[in-house]
Amino acid sequence: MEKERAQWSSRLGFILAAAGSAVGLGNIWKFPGKAFEGGGAAFLLIYLLVVPLVGMPAMLSELAIGRAGRANVVDVFGKLGHKKFAWVGWVGWTVAFIITCYYGHVGGWVLRYVAAYAFQSKEVYADPAGFFYGVLGLHAADGTTFLPWVTLAFAAVFMAACAVIIIRGVESGIERFNKIGMPALFILLLILLVRAVTLPGAADGLRYMFSMDWSKVNGQTFLIALSQAFYSLSLGMAIMITYGSYVPKTENIERNTVLVCLMDTMVAFIAGFIVIPAVFATLGPEGVGKGGGFAFVSLAGVFEQMPGGVVFGVLFYLLLLFAALTSTISLIEGIVVFMTERFGWKRTPTTIVTCTVMFLIGCLYTCSQAAVDIKGIWFDVVHGVSYPALCDAMEFLTDRLMIPLGALGCCLFAGWVWKPENVIAEAEQDGIRFKLAGVFRFLIRFVAPAAIIVILIVSLFTGTTLS
Ligand code: PFF
Repeated sequence: MEKERAQWSSRLGFILAAAGSAVGLGNIWKFPGKAFEGGGAAFLLIYLLVVPLVGMPAMLSELAIGRAGRANVVDVFGKLGHKKFAWVGWVGWTVAFIITCYYGHVGGWVLRYVAAYAFQSKEVYADPAGFFYGVLGLHAADGTTFLPWVTLAFAAVFMAACAVIIIRGVESGIERFNKIGMPALFILLLILLVRAVTLPGAADGLRYMFSMDWSKVNGQTFLIALSQAFYSLSLGMAIMITYGSYVPKTENIERNTVLVCLMDTMVAFIAGFIVIPAVFATLGPEGVGKGGGFAFVSLAGVFEQMPGGVVFGVLFYLLLLFAALTSTISLIEGIVVFMTERFGWKRTPTTIVTCTVMFLIGCLYTCSQAAVDIKGIWFDVVHGVSYPALCDAMEFLTDRLMIPLGALGCCLFAGWVWKPENVIAEAEQDGIRFKLAGVFRFLIRFVAPAAIIVILIVSLFTGTTLS
């Protein structure tokens, strides 16, 4: 007889865990820069279309698949009678594994910045870019490189913290942690929002965020919004299927999906309305950088010019740390539960070994930023074969290829193989009525797969940034 699977002990526990997974570095670190590049309000509007039309049906399907099959991301397809679709689970599991390798390290950088603002704010302010390079193993002054041991140590601490939470189990670990971390995150965000929009000069940034600059919008903008939504909602991976498998049958997964998507989108938008006005206020529009530089370099100017900036700096990175932790533990949970169920391994040693391996691979990611010259490989039709830095190659592989592939597999499975009727029946357990069943059926069969196929093709043929 199969051992009974864990379950979330309360509705709040599940919603917070799913929202905790969704709300992460993607919302706060990636989203504002994309909103800026995509023409402010125009991008926000597109994103607001993409989330309900593609993200919501995909998330609902993943939760329904997980809850109906009550198994890990690979075996769940067999349990539902379609073993052939186990490849979707393998893709999801592999994506989760690769993402965790680097996500855990970026979490370490964030922890490093909590310490930096607490103890070395003068050094950060003196040369924000130089400090960031130093974190990654490059002396900005003379261009010499070194192995960033301190940063690696911070990443080790971050991964170890995640492992401890995972080992404590779904209910006492993840759920309890999220109950504290998620509300704290919302409160911190609101404080920073008030601070950012009242900075002198912030009005220009607000004006930008509220103006529809359609000249910056093209086909790519839609695709960027789509892939950002998948990443941000933790779709196409082992996550929502695994978390769905812990949801009691009495839960209304339709309503929960809507709530999680709303929370995730709200956090992304609030982050956009913190970061863009704040950077305009201190650095002007040129200050809006991208990626790591954005979260770690540009904001230094913001905090420096804020009264009590060091406190806000520490708060901001603590907030990012919470967000990164809850997302990382969701990734690890999906990875570990597959191994324990599939191979009968024990949770604790499996977690320790997997986290160690992922941390070690992640060291290559961090070191390949600046300290060490390690290349990966990538292909697109425009540029042919290229050899980007390993860190970029890892992100390309997941964001541009495997996430859309995994999400497409899930949508095709739900829409055409397992059939929307089964998703609807799963959502309608315990006397619950699925209000938008007709709309869902149309979206999951036609709109969502078509949109994802376009992403995959365009990313292959244009070679532009989709992540
Ligand atoms: N959704 C997270 C974010 O926006 O940062 C990242 C993430 C977490 C992606 C978990 C995928 C995942 F499975």
